[in-house]
Amino acid sequence: MITFADDLICMEKKGFYIETYGCQMNFSDSEIIASVLKNNFFEFEPDINKADLILLNTCSIRDNAEQKVFNRLKHLKFLKKKNNGLIIGLLGCMAERLKEELFAEGVVDLVAGPDSYRELPQLIASIQGGNKAFNVMLSAEETYADINPVRINTNGISAFISIMRGCQNFCSYCVVPFTRGKERSREPETIMAEAKKLFSEGFKEITLLGQNVNSYTYNNIGFPKLMAMVAEINPALRIRFATSHPKDLSDDLIAVIAAYPNICKAIHLPLQSGSDTMLKLMNRKYTRDYYLSRVEAIYKAIPDCAISTDIIAGFCSETEQDHQDTLSAMREAKIDYAFMFKYSQREGTKAAETLTDDVPDDVKTQRLNEIIALQQELSLASNKKDLGKVFEVLVEGTSKRSSRQLTGRTSQNKVVVFTDSEHTTGDYVQVRITDCTSGTLKGEVVV
Ligand code: 5AD
Ligand code: SF4
Repeated sequence: MITFADDLICMEKKGFYIETYGCQMNFSDSEIIASVLKNNFFEFEPDINKADLILLNTCSIRDNAEQKVFNRLKHLKFLKKKNNGLIIGLLGCMAERLKEELFAEGVVDLVAGPDSYRELPQLIASIQGGNKAFNVMLSAEETYADINPVRINTNGISAFISIMRGCQNFCSYCVVPFTRGKERSREPETIMAEAKKLFSEGFKEITLLGQNVNSYTYNNIGFPKLMAMVAEINPALRIRFATSHPKDLSDDLIAVIAAYPNICKAIHLPLQSGSDTMLKLMNRKYTRDYYLSRVEAIYKAIPDCAISTDIIAGFCSETEQDHQDTLSAMREAKIDYAFMFKYSQREGTKAAETLTDDVPDDVKTQRLNEIIALQQELSLASNKKDLGKVFEVLVEGTSKRSSRQLTGRTSQNKVVVFTDSEHTTGDYVQVRITDCTSGTLKGEVVV
């Protein structure tokens, strides 16, 4: 019998398929994984039914993110029955959190955590005759700095560059510090080289990624300096970044964003809650007033800046008043866009160990719905303010509804749809806003 490992030795390329769940960091990791595999006798196979190796790059942030993957594994069990040699690997945060437990379903052959992707070829080669492969060691140094990501999730215009890994803020509800380990920054030279390469390949927009980019530091280069260096590559290259922790959002960073026209005027600043009691229990290390004062500083320096946020509804012991404080803080901050979630208790976190998940599910749902309704109102108000104004839009493609309509984004990260036969993906177009909903701007090309 020829095994998978023998095939590798014969240098016959095997097809891998990868599915990514969760945050932008995971999408960026999947491109690192693709690079490691492509350099080791694998090729990317976009059709899951034809793949020899199926990888799920997973997320643990909330229970429903994990349930999605467990449901997916049920489907993969069928594929495995049809194809005996098929290898199924579970990567990312669930691999790190659940470890060997993931083998129990009898579907998964490989479990690999976020710091073990360099080892994937060896791990895969060791799977034969029913062996399982496993590596969930976290590292204090790994940044994959030298790996040239293969852009598998791309529109050819926008790309992610991971500038740091891990998180050690230990927000009490969050599993990330446990699944992604210690915070470490990547060498700026390798970040610059990656950004320059992307621009020379025709990419027009780069998002610098980290769990808390404001604490980036390498040989005395902090995040504001790094942003300025990347922005200076070319004025036609747009720069975005995610995610900022409000406690570390410095005046220096705000000044750099204001100074460079190609640094996008959009800041993702997770609030989580507008109640000081909740913020303390969440171990967020800032108060409501501090958050609002940072927002004020942003609007003062960059009046047209968009601010997006993350909100958690129904954290431990949250009262109706705490919830009302969240709604009023969102209003005061004039949040443009939000990602909104019900609190989901994660085993091993401080909140799971020392607090009680005591807000009933129907109350969490009701509060979440109120938060969503308010956000729609705020987004609509923000979009209405754009009516009549002209924005530079970077075209990302044609709209889903009509091939005569193009879609792209403003610097503020708002989606704009407009009719245009002159331009194409990757062009910058001046568009006047003529209409809007809470989710989209509509406009016409300014000639
Ligand atoms: N429950 C609900 N939402 C969570 N987040 C992180 N952990 C949890 C949890 N246990 C949210 C936070 C964070 C975003 C990425 O996910 O709002 O900013
Ligand atoms: Fe989680 Fe807080 Fe770190 Fe964000 S900053 S990844 S919410 S621990």
